[in-house]
Amino acid sequence: MEYKDSKGLLDTPRKILKVNHAGEFGAINIYRSQLFIARLFMRDLVPLLESFLADEKRHLQIFWDEIRSRNGIKCKSFWLCGLGGYFMGAVSALLGRKGIMACTWAVESVVVNHLHTQLSYLESKSDRAAYDTVAAILEDEQNHRDIGSRHGGADNIWYGPLRNAISLFTEAVIRFGMR
Ligand SMILES: [Fe+2]
Ligand SMILES: [Fe+2]
Repeated sequence: MEYKDSKGLLDTPRKILKVNHAGEFGAINIYRSQLFIARLFMRDLVPLLESFLADEKRHLQIFWDEIRSRNGIKCKSFWLCGLGGYFMGAVSALLGRKGIMACTWAVESVVVNHLHTQLSYLESKSDRAAYDTVAAILEDEQNHRDIGSRHGGADNIWYGPLRNAISLFTEAVIRFGMR
């Protein structure tokens, strides 16, 4: 997806910040629901999922601080992201540990692609503060994605439909938020 100058009231950097902020809320809910199921059936995954959750909570705050500093707004899709995240996390975790890893890989891959595109856009606009805000989370998201991949989430064929559904939903929610 291309990031263009906004024609509406809210400029594109503010839109990027609100969409990412909502996305972090979605990610928090993915890992919350996965943790709920992992605590019952996959206890060995709990520390990893807890560390992901802690990262996402930190990211949420990073975006909110920058939104506040420039009179931004919360995304209309904030609660949709939360609900969708909780649902995707639960469905993937019910499919077992490979399901969890496929979900992580799919979500974080879409996110990392968008972050790169956002960074190019913000650099072209010389919006240093927004650039630094987005750049601050990039390494964590790449790390989440790569851990998902190392645990077989990227290529196990049985989880292809799950990965596709999750990628589509994530992509759609980002586009909806950027309109
Ligand atoms: Fe995040
Ligand atoms: Fe993440």
